[in-house]
Amino acid sequence: MRVLTKILRRQPNREKAKPNELLAAPTYNMWGRVSDFAAEIQKSEFMVGMSQYFEGPDGHGLMGALDCATLYGLTRWQRPAVVVETGGYLGMSSAFILKALADESLAQAKLYSLEMNPDCDHGAMIPNELRSQFVPLKGRVEDFLKRDELPSPIDMFLHDSSHRYRHMLWEFRQFWARLRDGGLLVSHDVHFNAAFAGFVAKTHARDKNGVMDVERTTHHDWGRWGYIGFVIKKSS
Ligand SMILES: C[S@@+](CC[C@H](N)C(=O)[O-])C[C@H]1O[C@@H](n2cnc3c(N)ncnc32)[C@H](O)[C@@H]1O
Repeated sequence: MRVLTKILRRQPNREKAKPNELLAAPTYNMWGRVSDFAAEIQKSEFMVGMSQYFEGPDGHGLMGALDCATLYGLTRWQRPAVVVETGGYLGMSSAFILKALADESLAQAKLYSLEMNPDCDHGAMIPNELRSQFVPLKGRVEDFLKRDELPSPIDMFLHDSSHRYRHMLWEFRQFWARLRDGGLLVSHDVHFNAAFAGFVAKTHARDKNGVMDVERTTHHDWGRWGYIGFVIKKSS
């Protein structure tokens, strides 16, 4: 409360401004839009069709329904032209990204999906009508980056490969550098360890009172919904 009072004192128009307006990020309205999109897909025939796989033999490794709905909502809000995901597997997350691109009529957009397991039927669950914008890439993300074979800049990145702490942090750093200003970094399974929380903390700058220094902070906003975490990049 003392911190809020200090901030209010610093504002020249403090009589007119409400406290939540002073503290809100410019992207604050995204929360309502993303949750509306997520609610829409949860009630859709598309979700009914994809749900058959959650109970199937491969259900264990797939992104869950709530997280798929959040991912769909974030993709529709962001309207990306270039998306990269790591850990494509059978294509549950891919299908929801591609569905969001289709629902936003982003016919030129592409989803580059990396999967290292040579025995995996990469993207098998993606409905046929969504496949034209899917670019499957077989191999380790480490090797694709080493050979500089991935697009840059990118609008949106999804991490869903190995959830080891060091690997997650490494992917976040690698793809953060490739994201454009306003680009969206998304991670699945952020509850597995503190990599996502630690990464977000590094994008925060604070003033001498411990309050966020908006000028020096390198994200526009960030959040966590279910097991999905996201950060919106601001170029420094
Ligand atoms: C949890 S599954 C991904 C699920 C998928 N996103 C979905 O919703 O259907 C993780 C996948 O990441 C792949 N993987 C793990 N480490 C990787 C790496 N270094 N490069 C590329 N793929 C990797 C694994 O082979 C596995 O298929």
